[in-house]
Amino acid sequence: MIQIQELHKRFSKNKVLIGVDLEIQNGGIYAILGPNGSGKTTLIKAILGMVLPNKGKIHLNQKDIKNQWKYRENIEYLPQIANFPGNLKVSELIKMIIDLRSKPSSSDELIQRFGLEPFLDKKLNTLSGGTKQKVNLVLTFMFDSPLIILDEPTTGLDPIALLTLKELIAQEKKKGKTFLITSHIMQFVEEVADEIVYLLEGQIYFKGTIEELQNLTHKTNFEHAIAALTAQNV
Ligand SMILES: Nc1ncnc2c1ncn2[C@@H]1O[C@H](COP(=O)(O)OP(=O)(O)OP(=O)(O)O)[C@@H](O)[C@H]1O
Ligand SMILES: [Mg+2]
Repeated sequence: MIQIQELHKRFSKNKVLIGVDLEIQNGGIYAILGPNGSGKTTLIKAILGMVLPNKGKIHLNQKDIKNQWKYRENIEYLPQIANFPGNLKVSELIKMIIDLRSKPSSSDELIQRFGLEPFLDKKLNTLSGGTKQKVNLVLTFMFDSPLIILDEPTTGLDPIALLTLKELIAQEKKKGKTFLITSHIMQFVEEVADEIVYLLEGQIYFKGTIEELQNLTHKTNFEHAIAALTAQNV
């Protein structure tokens, strides 16, 4: 479904992606991992056409995404940092996004599942970090798309909201959807991910299942296996 070939991206002298080759098949959950600043968000944004690569190609369903934009209608994206207009009420923002996207949506059930009813009339700049993240999640899951990209979805969530998020992911995965998820919460990754994609020094350093990673690093503990990759002592 997603094919990335020889992708390079630098920000002035900072070479962030240095020849990334990656293939993501349809269906399942891919965790994109790597240290802070390793280029996870940059890679995600390149897939979304929000970051223009210096070199390389990205194909989505066999089509080159370069200079295209319509393909984005079929991707849901949860940004790592959501810059909501602070003066809007939660209900106004949800309505605005529904109007903008002009595709079928189902926000009511999600609002209820995340317990957001009491906040609908509140302005976004008055919300706590975790509540903002719940709004961010409602905006992402209220549309039906085959590809869902979540950049640090667990940020600020309390344990109940985290459970709701995991249920939502499992529910949508069952429909055959594909997820790209970044997270620094290894317990969450271990629970949800089918495959790990590990970015280091601008390249894909490892791609495989958690079991394959454990075998490679000789570490049964997932967190330690990831730490071993980062330390490059495998
Ligand atoms: N718009 C930009 N302009 C300049 N540099 C940028 C820009 N976006 C990202 N970078 C740089 O690119 C590198 C990779 O950043 P990126 O946000 O992709 O990392 P990340 O892996 O998502 O990190 P984190 O785990 O902290 O979310 C960093 O050095 C960052 O400073
Ligand atoms: Mg990031």
